[in-house]
Amino acid sequence: MSPRPISILGIGYVGMVQTACLSDAGVDVILFDAKPFKNELVRRGDATVVEPGVPEAIARNRRRIQVPETLAEVIAASDVTYICVGTPPQADGSVGLKAVFGVAHEVAPLIRTKPGYHLFVIRSTIPPGTSREFIKIVEAESGKKYGQDFGCIMHPEFMREGQSMEDFRKPSFTILGTDRKEDARQIEELYHRAGVQGETFTVSFEEAELFKYLNNNFHALKVAFANEVARMAKHYNFDPVRLMRIFVRDTKLNVSPYYLMPSMPFGGYCLPKDARGLRRLLEHENIDAATIASLIPSNEQHYAFVFSELEKLIESESKVPSATLRTSAGQESIVNNQSSIINNHPAPSPRLGLWGVAFKRQTDDLRESPYLHVFRHLKSRGYTVKFYDPLINPALIVGANLAYIESQYKDFFNYQIPAAEDFLADTDIVIVGSGNGLAEALSQGMPLQNKKVICLDPWLYDALTSAEVKFSRII
Ligand SMILES: NC(=O)c1ccc[n+]([C@@H]2O[C@H](COP(=O)([O-])OP(=O)(O)OC[C@H]3O[C@@H](n4cnc5c(N)ncnc54)[C@H](O)[C@@H]3O)[C@@H](O)[C@H]2O)c1
Repeated sequence: MSPRPISILGIGYVGMVQTACLSDAGVDVILFDAKPFKNELVRRGDATVVEPGVPEAIARNRRRIQVPETLAEVIAASDVTYICVGTPPQADGSVGLKAVFGVAHEVAPLIRTKPGYHLFVIRSTIPPGTSREFIKIVEAESGKKYGQDFGCIMHPEFMREGQSMEDFRKPSFTILGTDRKEDARQIEELYHRAGVQGETFTVSFEEAELFKYLNNNFHALKVAFANEVARMAKHYNFDPVRLMRIFVRDTKLNVSPYYLMPSMPFGGYCLPKDARGLRRLLEHENIDAATIASLIPSNEQHYAFVFSELEKLIESESKVPSATLRTSAGQESIVNNQSSIINNHPAPSPRLGLWGVAFKRQTDDLRESPYLHVFRHLKSRGYTVKFYDPLINPALIVGANLAYIESQYKDFFNYQIPAAEDFLADTDIVIVGSGNGLAEALSQGMPLQNKKVICLDPWLYDALTSAEVKFSRII
């Protein structure tokens, strides 16, 4: 028995390309659009969009493509329905979800009496929460149960108009957002049959929904950046095309995964200085560059986020019933939260220890180190904080590095504990910063396993995990 056809709702760019590629691969397709003229065009064997290869594929595969008169026929004749309806911007810029939810209201009564399992695959670009809302509507209005009678996958589309058939067949990746592996497997099998290449990642609904926006916003960010270079070029009289062609030749740092790991705010000597410097220069020269100008404010927002999340974590780590913590008055005691509330004792103030304060590993450079800012912030909030960093030797901190510390935090070195053992003995919560010497200490059996640990640097997650150290994280 040949497999049942796949149905597609919405015959715009996405629906049409999907139809062209699937039918070309031998898959039977049932199409339907809310606009009757689009249905009529396809019935005649015409494409509704101009895209390389699409009209030819639609004409070539006429016998595999059906366009019934009603949506009821579409749903009855298929068990997998792709939803490719538009999500146009509203007047305020928000995403128009009328068509997506419209489909939910329309299909719900149609699956009410339909036997068997029906899988909905949303290809439209939708904000986080929309798929779950879609499921809720279908569940409420069909009386059928999600996961038992019907499924839903958020499957963002990454094709570029102009080379959409090529992108459909060889996508950078296939993203399937679902909490049901069985549903994802159905689509993987379909793509295997249709010869769609590349890696598949199964993620949550929300990840899939947001992922599409992240991709397009990153592309927009790149275009905006390159266009700011073009405006600088006009002012400084150079060829931006030539310069950007050289720029993208750097596939080690510029066009690469480097600098794309979510982490602490950017710091060190160069990045903040040069972001501020270029922003100021462009302002002075009257060159509009909102993307570059937004870098420092964005970094400041990230500091505010890190500080607030870190304080929440410290607070929750401190709430463990019987821990040896120090009261804010300074005496060490066995503190029990409940009894401290009953006896009206001061709230426990954990002794915090920051492991690694240089702006990154393998260096003693403290200039604009995000960990130095974390340290200062915690002190300013009244916490007891010490630090350990085997690469920071106050006698060897000289020049601009020393000048920075002296201008920013004169008595900083007074808070250093030179030996790791003493540091751990004097610390209730270890906050892993840049982590100089941490991996080595763990491999030598440094007992971090029975400490409360908060890790700020994602590059150290693996080292902690493989040493079986449990830790909390902000990012
Ligand atoms: N165009 C692209 O390159 C591209 C790429 C990736 C993702 N997307 C996303 O895919 C979605 C569709 O994009 P598009 O460019 O194909 O849009 P489009 O506007 O070209 O087509 C959408 C179609 O859906 C139809 N429709 C609306 N409500 C319907 C309903 N209830 N039943 C059946 N049909 C209905 C419309 O009549 C229209 O023909 C959007 O969310 C878009 O953001 C588009």
